[in-house]
Amino acid sequence: MAKGHFFSFEGIDGSGKSLMQQLVGKRLKETGYSVLLTKEPGGSDLGKQIRKWLLDQSSAALSAKEELLLFSADRVRHVDLVIKPALAAGKIVLCDRYIDSTVAYQGGGRGLDKDFIERINDFATGGLKPELTFYLDLPLEIARRRQKTQLDKIEQQNGNFFQTIIDSYRQLALQYPQRIIRIDATSNITAVAEKICLHIEDYLAKAGCSHE
Ligand SMILES: Nc1ncnc2c1ncn2[C@@H]1O[C@H](COP(=O)(O)OP(=O)(O)O)[C@@H](O)[C@H]1O
Ligand SMILES: [Mg+2]
Repeated sequence: MAKGHFFSFEGIDGSGKSLMQQLVGKRLKETGYSVLLTKEPGGSDLGKQIRKWLLDQSSAALSAKEELLLFSADRVRHVDLVIKPALAAGKIVLCDRYIDSTVAYQGGGRGLDKDFIERINDFATGGLKPELTFYLDLPLEIARRRQKTQLDKIEQQNGNFFQTIIDSYRQLALQYPQRIIRIDATSNITAVAEKICLHIEDYLAKAGCSHE
């Protein structure tokens, strides 16, 4: 049985996932926890190649099915070779995107059947779910303003596409209220990080976790 703890960050690009993962990770490390920061796609060695290829501007656009299966293949390896060993070693794993991204992007965004995606997710992960998932909820216009100027291929899709993704994330948060915590990401950086840290600290205290 896993000794560590597993938390994920979700949201559209520009919502603050990477920054929050860094800030929360730093705070947990300062508290004395052993922390692993990782991400999808690209958390495994295979995944890094897939990610490079997926985001390569010169390759032809991938179909939704190809995206689903490539991201899922990365996930199999990421879970087996990175996440599970870290949990077994007692680490806190903070993952930037995980199963909910696939439901929101390939399901909501690209129209594949969400129930089928959930089954693929279960198949890929062996049912490993994060204990808590922080969904950084941010209106599209604000996310765009915060984002880097160079958008990758997925990010270049139109606003409608992203609104569907936001709607899918919100629906997931309602569907899994125990696991997915919707965080208002319009607040300032310190306030958002603080809110997430409080949820994690509260969760770890209830789980009777000690890093000593
Ligand atoms: N709460 C916030 N308020 C203002 N700016 C933020 C906030 N959270 C993140 N940012 C900034 O917005 C940009 C996108 O954040 P990032 O963490 O890269 O998002 P993501 O990983 O979700 O794409 C970065 O420049 C980051 O510093
Ligand atoms: Mg990021």
